[in-house]
Amino acid sequence: MGNYNKILEGNTVLESERLMLRPFSLKDTKDVFLYAQDEVVTKYLTWSTHNSVEETQKTIEEFYMKKGVFAIELKAKQMCIGCIELRINEKHNKASFGYVLNRHYWNKGYMTEALQLLLDLSFTKLELNRIESTHYVGNEASGQVMKKCGMKYEGTGRQEVKIKGIYYDVVHYGILREEWIKGHLD
Ligand SMILES: CC(C)(COP(=O)(O)OP(=O)(O)OC[C@H]1O[C@@H](n2cnc3c(N)ncnc32)[C@H](O)[C@@H]1OP(=O)(O)O)[C@@H](O)C(=O)NCCC(=O)NCCS
Repeated sequence: MGNYNKILEGNTVLESERLMLRPFSLKDTKDVFLYAQDEVVTKYLTWSTHNSVEETQKTIEEFYMKKGVFAIELKAKQMCIGCIELRINEKHNKASFGYVLNRHYWNKGYMTEALQLLLDLSFTKLELNRIESTHYVGNEASGQVMKKCGMKYEGTGRQEVKIKGIYYDVVHYGILREEWIKGHLD
């Protein structure tokens, strides 16, 4: 995991026109609580809505800051509007990811912009071979983000998971390094 860790935990900052992907700090607690306490935001996530700022602070300390999760900062407001996490599988030289955004900022292309930065890091700096992810049927906006970033539909697992008491069909997407490079040649 050596090389990956060096890059992911080395305070890597990624920047696009509107966003900065950077490490979390406890200063982000208030901003994270805004989306973590929103039931619409967490509907299709494995974790439950946060009930207190203290719970959010603990999550930032014990998970976001330790696992190299990127805070998504909206540069114009200097505010953390969400997060995106790369989960590396070293054995297969691939990774999956997860993401979440404050509902107030949905449908403005922000997560597409963030995922493009993460794919660029994955295929250029980290030289991974494959990036994969899933979304549940019903959460089509997430699939749309993956499609807009060039990921391909790879199949649907029927009632593959049980989340908050509901079985969901799981839609699988993936992109290979060779496909990504081909799409970024010019
Ligand atoms: C999924 C999520 C990250 C998307 O972020 P976002 O910044 O709004 O995404 P973008 O604006 O880049 O793209 C959203 C796309 O989905 C489309 N969309 C939105 N609602 C949709 C729906 N119900 N059905 C189909 N498409 C939908 C938008 O029109 C847009 O596509 P377009 O640009 O082609 O018009 C955000 O909705 C979110 O945080 N959801 C809650 C957490 C979550 O579900 N995370 C993913 C778990 S797999």
